Amino acid sequence: MAPLSAARAGTFRIADELPVHRLGYGAMRITGDGIWGPPRNVAECRRVLARLPELGINFIDTADSYGPYISEDLLGEVLHPYPPGMIIATKGGLTRAGPGVWLPVGRPEYLRQCVMMSLRRLKLDRLPLWQLHRIDPKVPRDEQFACIAEMQREGLIQHVGLSEVKVEEIETARRHFTVASVQNLYNLVNRQSEEVLSYCENESIAFIPWFPLAAGSLARSGGVLDTMAQRLGVTPSALALAWVLQRSPVMVPIPGTGQVQHLEENVAAAGLTLSAEDFAALDLQGRAEWEKQKR
Ligand SMILES: NC(=O)c1ccc[n+]([C@@H]2O[C@H](COP(=O)([O-])OP(=O)(O)OC[C@H]3O[C@@H](n4cnc5c(N)ncnc54)[C@H](OP(=O)(O)O)[C@@H]3O)[C@@H](O)[C@H]2O)c1
Repeated sequence: MAPLSAARAGTFRIADELPVHRLGYGAMRITGDGIWGPPRNVAECRRVLARLPELGINFIDTADSYGPYISEDLLGEVLHPYPPGMIIATKGGLTRAGPGVWLPVGRPEYLRQCVMMSLRRLKLDRLPLWQLHRIDPKVPRDEQFACIAEMQREGLIQHVGLSEVKVEEIETARRHFTVASVQNLYNLVNRQSEEVLSYCENESIAFIPWFPLAAGSLARSGGVLDTMAQRLGVTPSALALAWVLQRSPVMVPIPGTGQVQHLEENVAAAGLTLSAEDFAALDLQGRAEWEKQKR
C-alpha cells in the first residue's frame, strides 16, 4: 500500500509562488469548546501538529482569533523552526468577546496589531499568507484594503487572502493587492460559493474551502456518504475530502481535527481518486442535500 501522504493530492502554487500540497490542515480545532481557551487534550493536539510534516502536510491554516491565540501559540511551540517548505497561513480582523462570539474589527490600527502579533506568536519575520478573516462592514473597505497593501509593501505580509467574500468584493480588493487565496464555506452539501469558486478557477486563485467536512457531520458514519464509503472501503471523511479535491484544481481543503487518528483518515483522501461515475453520483447527492437545506 502506498504511504499516507498529502503530497498524493498534488501541488497548487499559491500566487504562482508558494507550492503547497493540496490537502492542508485547519488548526481551529486545537482549542477549547466554542474555539475558546485551550483544548481539553493538549498533548493529543501537540501530537497532531508534530504528525503534520510526517504526513506530507505543508499548508496549515490558523487565525489569531482561534483560542484566541492558542492555535498560533501551539503551532509556534510545536513546529518552529518550521520544516523547509512549510507554509503557515493565518488570519486577522476578528475579535473574540467569548466562546462562539466573533466580531469583525477592520480599523487599520487593529489590522496592523493583528499582523504584528501573529508574527510574534508564529515566530516569523514575514507572514507567507495573511488573510482578512472578515471585511468589517463598519469600516470603509478601501481603508481596510489600503492598510493591508501597505503592510505587504513593508514586507510584513508576503501574500494576501480574503475570507467569506463575494466576487464583487474580491474585485474591489484586487485594485489594492493581488488576491492570492479565497477562503469560503464550501463542501459537498453546501454550495453557496459556487460562483466564487468559478471565479477563483478562472483567475488561478487558491480556493480554500472551510468546513470541508461540514464541521464533522460528513465524517460521521450513518450519514449521506455511508453507502459509497462502505463499497469503496474508505471512511466517509476521506470520501468527502476526495470529492472536494476532485471538484477543482484550485481547491486546497484544510480539514480540522484535534485527533491523530482523524488526521490520518483525512490524509487518506489525498490518495483516493473517484471514478467519473462515483464523482457524479456524489455531486448529485450533495446538491440534493443542499437544495433540501435551502428550503
Ligand atoms: N475562514 C473562516 O471563516 C473559517 C471558519 C471556520 C473554519 N475555518 C478553517 O477551516 C478549517 C476547517 O473547518 P472546521 O475544522 O471547522 O470543520 P471541518 O474540517 O469540516 O470539520 C472539523 C470537525 O470534524 C471532526 N473531524 C475531522 N476529521 C474527522 C474524521 N476523520 N472523523 C470524524 N470526525 C472528524 C473534527 O473533530 P475532531 O477534532 O474530534 O476530529 C471537527 O469537529 C478550520 O480548522 C479553520 O482552519 C475558517
